Amino acid sequence: MSELEQRRNGPAWADPEFSRCPIDYLARQAVPAPYYDPVNQGWIVTDYETVKHALTSSSYVKDVSNAAPCPYTTRQKEATGQSFIFMDDPDRGRIRRILAPLFTPRRVQQLAPIIEGICSALLDHAPTDRAFNLADAYCRPLSVLTIATILGFDEDRQADLLAWSEDLEREFGPQHPEAQNRSRASHLALVNYLDALLGQQRPPEGTAVAFLAEALLNRSVTYEEALSTLVALLVAGNVSTSDLLSNAVYNLLSHPKQLHAYLKGQVSAAQVIEETLRYDPPLTVVDRIAGLDAPLPFVTPGEWVWPCLSTANRSPQLNDNPDRFNVTRDRVRHLSFGAGSRLCLGAPLARLEAQIGLDMLFRRFPALVLSPSDESVRHDKPSFHGFAKLWVIGQGAG
Ligand code: HEM
Repeated sequence: MSELEQRRNGPAWADPEFSRCPIDYLARQAVPAPYYDPVNQGWIVTDYETVKHALTSSSYVKDVSNAAPCPYTTRQKEATGQSFIFMDDPDRGRIRRILAPLFTPRRVQQLAPIIEGICSALLDHAPTDRAFNLADAYCRPLSVLTIATILGFDEDRQADLLAWSEDLEREFGPQHPEAQNRSRASHLALVNYLDALLGQQRPPEGTAVAFLAEALLNRSVTYEEALSTLVALLVAGNVSTSDLLSNAVYNLLSHPKQLHAYLKGQVSAAQVIEETLRYDPPLTVVDRIAGLDAPLPFVTPGEWVWPCLSTANRSPQLNDNPDRFNVTRDRVRHLSFGAGSRLCLGAPLARLEAQIGLDMLFRRFPALVLSPSDESVRHDKPSFHGFAKLWVIGQGAG
């Protein structure tokens, strides 16, 4: 088999094994990167230089209409509508500018008391006498309720929001007809709900719905763009932030000396979260479409390219001893929020939420441990990396 043929039978990022541990999964491949993903039909690139270049260079685009037709293109077109996350400039920049004031560090910091209140209420329901699944009981609802606040959703729709968001995440995974049908039904239900929110006489002040409703009035956004943007924000911010917190708790509990340093106050939640972002990132791959001058071997213009953040973060170019989880690093460098003009808009919110979530959890349960008798399980949501079940025992309630 030629090298090109070998590559054409490469790994698939939507394979559940990839979601569980991208580093181990890619290490098992017979040929070096770039790998051709035969399921979603595109190239997975893994090393820091190539990933950074693909993230930041204008040789790579996001607008699906520039992509060579393949199953992924078709689904992407159906699922994203006019979402600015899948637009190129100037349209992406136009919509990003409308939302940017919502995510400034100062504005996000003002959400701290709300996030603390959500954490506190969730922890009040956590059992103190038996193991519980932290991912379901804490990480996921914290993430959904926080996003719901920023977007301007009704709190009492949290169960719906959680279910819709989870279903939408599955859209790009392996083709299970049942999951695809559920995902489409959830998308429709969500859009109907958002349609009603955007049509309100007085949307809740200072929320994404209010910003987009005003942009609709002054015609800086179309109705379809406003709807798709709300869907995109829900999806972009929900699973990733919940995964970040679950990964941080898991890694800390698996490294007793570092846990001790954190509990003694020698290491801050911010340091733990930053090292988790680097070592165990919630988003494993992002997508790009190779433009005419994308300088990659094998890749032809119009093909999908999947820069792998998990492997790029482990480059020795970025940090010493990259394969070691070490919360005491002076400076942590990673690409987990992307890079360049598309750098994650919600990064300040994700960081704050995860830091508060971690501190409040350990303040309430200073002797928290992983449950020895229940096995924790990573979820298999394509392109994300976190826990479906993270069993902990909340002994020592404070
Ligand atoms: C730990 C949590 C999060 C991670 C790891 C993460 C990661 C990322 C990454 C890697 C990108 C770049 C995508 C690309 O280059 O194609 C991105 C973009 C984006 N993220 Fe996040 N994100 C997180 C949380 C959030 C939250 C909470 C929100 C908002 C509610 C959000 C909103 C966005 C938006 C709007 C973009 C697109 C920016 C643009 O294209 O201009 N993210 N995120």
